[in-house]
Amino acid sequence: MKVIRKAKEIQDIATQFKKQNKSIGFVPTMGYLHEGHISLIKAARENDIVIASIFVNPLQFGPNEDYEAYPRDEERDIAKAKEAGVDYLFVPEVTDMYPNEPMVSMKITDRVDVLCGRSRPGHFDGVITVLTKLFHLVQPDRTYFGKKDAQQVAVVDALITELNFPVELVSVPTVREEDGLAKSSRNVRLTKEERANAVHLYQALREGNKLVVNGEKDPSVVISKVKHHIEHHSSGEIDYVEVLSYPALKYIQTIKGRVILAVAVQFKNARLIDNLIIEAE
Ligand code: PAJ
Repeated sequence: MKVIRKAKEIQDIATQFKKQNKSIGFVPTMGYLHEGHISLIKAARENDIVIASIFVNPLQFGPNEDYEAYPRDEERDIAKAKEAGVDYLFVPEVTDMYPNEPMVSMKITDRVDVLCGRSRPGHFDGVITVLTKLFHLVQPDRTYFGKKDAQQVAVVDALITELNFPVELVSVPTVREEDGLAKSSRNVRLTKEERANAVHLYQALREGNKLVVNGEKDPSVVISKVKHHIEHHSSGEIDYVEVLSYPALKYIQTIKGRVILAVAVQFKNARLIDNLIIEAE
């Protein structure tokens, strides 16, 4: 595996492979790699070449968010990426990705007035800006995203479709700890007690899912059940519990077709999210 630091260099490498008609699979990450990221890298092995990136993108963090405190461990990430089968690991400096004050800004206006987009204004604008740059550098045939960040998948789907990126979006199931907690780089910031009750995000989602499977059609009934479960089992503060159509992310009166049941809970030093995508009758 080669570690590449410069944008121009990864672009030249990708261009060479395109000329040779090799397929490129791309896994963008912010590092502190765990098994969720590794499963994306393994899925990307269906391509001739796998490129992954590690870049904690300042543009997608709000002023009171955890950009500085975001966990980082480059040495360990390099070893993990190599072991997982990455061919080229792109690890740029902020000054290389954003050498100047940006003159062009990107804005997504749909699919972001709900869930994390509502709690984190501007977050997805930062995500689509960095991904546009990364797609131009890496020129992937396929790009791999985790369903854990289901709103991000919906936003990237809109980006790729509307801006005609010649890239196939592949979404990969959420990888969980043994007890069901979704793997996240931020889990390390939970206290022991918070870690013990964080599992209730997933358990609450399963309770909600059970209601839907048993025929419940009213989103508010499902939302109440999920909120009730989290409030009674966890010290975290609920940011949202929502049921929306997926991937359009619209409020619905009746649960029907593909829907997302999603939660976000703020713990002392970590905000955790999780979701289930449910195919309702
Ligand atoms: P990051 O949070 O590092 O996540 C990188 C990718 O790993 C995302 O597609 C995310 O959905 C996926 N992922 C995280 N936890 C997962 C889990 N438990 N199971 C499966 N996949 C999981 O998402 C970002 O970085 C950034 O916003 C980025 C896309 C890199 C743009 O900066």
